[in-house]
Amino acid sequence: MSPAELNGLDLPQHIAIIMDGNGRWAQQRGLPRLQGHYEGRKATPRVVEACVNWKIPFLSVYAFSVENWRRPLEEVEGVLDLIAAAMEEELDDLLQNDVRLVASGRLGELPEEFQEVIARVQRRTAANQGLVLNLIINYGGRAEIVDAARRFAQRVQAGELSPDALTEQTFQEYLYTPGLPDPDLVIRPGGEQRLSNFLLWETAYSELVYQDVLWPDYDEEHLLEAIREYSHRQRRFGAVTDTDAGDG
Ligand code: FPP
Repeated sequence: MSPAELNGLDLPQHIAIIMDGNGRWAQQRGLPRLQGHYEGRKATPRVVEACVNWKIPFLSVYAFSVENWRRPLEEVEGVLDLIAAAMEEELDDLLQNDVRLVASGRLGELPEEFQEVIARVQRRTAANQGLVLNLIINYGGRAEIVDAARRFAQRVQAGELSPDALTEQTFQEYLYTPGLPDPDLVIRPGGEQRLSNFLLWETAYSELVYQDVLWPDYDEEHLLEAIREYSHRQRRFGAVTDTDAGDG
């Protein structure tokens, strides 16, 4: 697709995606759920490539939540193995496309080998200047806020800071990936219309777009459709505009 189709659209700087619907995709075909995750794994590089081509600076993808440990062990292990393998398989493309990988979540609780793969890919892509790909893994929005509050409290306890030092600005420095701008656009394919504990702090003013397509079927046309919808939204961040006296 030529970037010409993006002409005139207000492009989000940071897109965050809740990759949902792998299990249902498999169930609809009478396949094991893991097969759905294998197909979903193929959709992710399609979206990464589109963001690279369209010069979107930041993309966050929700790969595994702290709640996902409640799934059957076989599925949990299968998904984690799949994501680790995908990271290694995609490394060449990430390098070629100038993509820098970062990761957000309780990374220290992931299996050792998994942490090593993430660390290696992060190291290898650290100097890249193009798209920042934020892999959100073993993540919960409330867990992130609790972890940030705890880290701040530890510094207060150590006598380094006073409680007054905490503001909305400084709090951000304690989140998993400080320095990333808040997402402008959150996309949830799969038909569900909820945030599911995703980036609770960061999405305070994000535009939400829900799509009926299941993640394994997701392609750049769906992404473009979400961006088109985003582009028509009027963002007010709580203020009013000249043409609108609303309060949103
Ligand atoms: C939700 O589907 C998806 C996940 C639990 C994450 C798995 C994501 C992938 C395998 C793609 C990751 C790929 C890379 C390269 C990072 P679901 O099982 O919740 O679907 P359901 O709602 O239909 O059950």
